[in-house]
Amino acid sequence: MEANNKAAKQGMTRRTFIKKTGITIFILTSGSIAFRALDQGVFSSSSGPAYEPWDISKNEYDGPLALVADAILAANPHNSQPWLFKVTDTQIELFADEARNLGAMDPFRREMFMGLGCAIENLMLSAAYNEYNPTINYFPHASDPNYVARITLEQGSKKESALYKAISIRHTDRGAYDIERPIPAEIFQHIDNVIEEKEKVKLTWFKTEEEKKLIGDLIVNATAAIIQDYDMSTSSNMWFKENWDDLQESRDGITLDAQGESIWTRAMGKILQPLSDDQNNQFWLKSTRERHTATAGAYGLISVRDASDNLERMLAGRAWQRIHLYGSTQNIGMHPLNQPNEMSDREKYLGTKEKFGMELKKITGDSSWQGLFLFRLGYALKDTLPSPRRSVDQVTF
Ligand SMILES: Cc1cc2nc3c(=O)[nH]c(=O)nc-3n(C[C@H](O)[C@H](O)[C@H](O)COP(=O)(O)O)c2cc1C
Repeated sequence: MEANNKAAKQGMTRRTFIKKTGITIFILTSGSIAFRALDQGVFSSSSGPAYEPWDISKNEYDGPLALVADAILAANPHNSQPWLFKVTDTQIELFADEARNLGAMDPFRREMFMGLGCAIENLMLSAAYNEYNPTINYFPHASDPNYVARITLEQGSKKESALYKAISIRHTDRGAYDIERPIPAEIFQHIDNVIEEKEKVKLTWFKTEEEKKLIGDLIVNATAAIIQDYDMSTSSNMWFKENWDDLQESRDGITLDAQGESIWTRAMGKILQPLSDDQNNQFWLKSTRERHTATAGAYGLISVRDASDNLERMLAGRAWQRIHLYGSTQNIGMHPLNQPNEMSDREKYLGTKEKFGMELKKITGDSSWQGLFLFRLGYALKDTLPSPRRSVDQVTF
């Protein structure tokens, strides 16, 4: 009897022990998941110092610095923010920050100069809003290719514009678009009209299913080629910010929050260990195939007369910024997909047979224009989140 009781007691003790251990492991695991979730910003998307520049209601800058505060919110390649501003009371000088180039992804700095053009467009819209009459002088010293523009500021009258107001709500939208909701013809017309320098910058649309298939396949194939190229893949992935603290510190790069994923996927992505370059590449290829190209409402191609000319690249960048700002006023998602151009530049750089270069020439369709920048657009199914930005103080001198 006593032996039986002892055995029962031991059994109970063992069961209780197992139960208690289970609970303890559960608490510890949940605790460490919760800690990692907190640590990796699962509950803090779009907040912290790296995102403060987007909150223009807290913007305490006035005079020319207010213009820089708007310029730094511009689109730019891989969120590398390749810009430096020298500011006085009467002028702003813009310099390319060559150290922030994308390496093998942008060997001829095509994207870097486009991004600088995007910043100039925001700056010019902001100048008009902030009662300046701006005059721009591109490449003031021909011998210095990194001294890209001098903007002289005279007193003017306030010019409000819908494009200016969209500066702080424009974000690259990498999510799925609504394939049931076509873009009305008048929207394409309005977008055509926001391009100012039409004799230098041309926009071509690809709207039919056949055209979209052609462009979509080209983009997917170029993505597959990039991830097979070690230098390109490494240069691209180094801008991917996997760690919340790093992101808040560097305030640049591509983030998980900006990938258009569901809250759940973003949370899991932050909690789990960082992905390897190979995993990132496969994730990118899959989203390019199954989401970006599969749900594109249409594609646009921006061309210039000479794709190697830095001024023309900047004018194309200014046009892209205006197009994207206009899209934001209409709640239309926009997303550059420049893999074919990136591969075309890579072929030229390596001196290999032109495959993507030839494809781009075919889709540009007119030998007097050279394709520079591809993008997709459509009605987004989810809200987009901002990307980090360095502060005005970090980019001015
Ligand atoms: C010249 C240029 C090329 C770009 N190419 C791509 C691209 O191929 N794929 C992509 O997802 N985003 C691309 N982008 C978008 C940038 O990654 C984006 O502007 C940057 O990360 C900042 O984010 P934001 O636009 O939401 O502020 C490009 C932007 C520029 C200006």
